[in-house]
Amino acid sequence: MEKDIQQVLISEKEIQDRIAQLGEVLSKEYEGKNPLVVGVLKGVVVFYADMIRKLTVPCEMDFMWISSYQGTDSTGSMVIKRDVSSDIKGRHVLILEDIFDTGSSLNFVYHHLLKKEPASIKICTLLDKPSRRKPGITLKADYVGFEIPNAFVVGYGLDYNEYYRNLPYVGVLKPELY
Ligand code: IMP
Ligand code: MG
Repeated sequence: MEKDIQQVLISEKEIQDRIAQLGEVLSKEYEGKNPLVVGVLKGVVVFYADMIRKLTVPCEMDFMWISSYQGTDSTGSMVIKRDVSSDIKGRHVLILEDIFDTGSSLNFVYHHLLKKEPASIKICTLLDKPSRRKPGITLKADYVGFEIPNAFVVGYGLDYNEYYRNLPYVGVLKPELY
């Protein structure tokens, strides 16, 4: 795997330090609110596992799994492969996502959950690529781990054709490989 990586963009240590900082902020924000932490599968799994262990408040876990009809280049037409199983009405929902790219996925998940009448809904994404946002998407992440340039990254949950998710850092894949 390592030989396929052009550059380590965010090291394991940088990720862990940032998650510890976010953990402090989120733990204050959700004091007494028993948040329902909704992860967007599958890319979020690694971040999710580390992030919730930095929350010092009681929280519940849930997951959504979505995919776009068109494969990788998302057109905005999303399908729900798995919906949340909890009753969201009146709950404080925190969405965790691996990357905010064109915004189609998060936009879809956000509005889908909003319809279920949560008390509040916020977004925390590990990575944000603002330069890739589709025109018309005005949604903003409330908490961002790292803003990154427009490069295709893998590792720490993020994949290329389902591989590289288990790299402990975020790296840029060699362009000749995709
Ligand atoms: P969206 O374009 O914001 O809807 O992002 C859709 C999904 O594409 C994300 O949840 C990621 O799983 C995936 N994705 C976007 N950018 C990258 C990348 O640089 N590497 C790996 N996966 C990505
Ligand atoms: Mg994904």
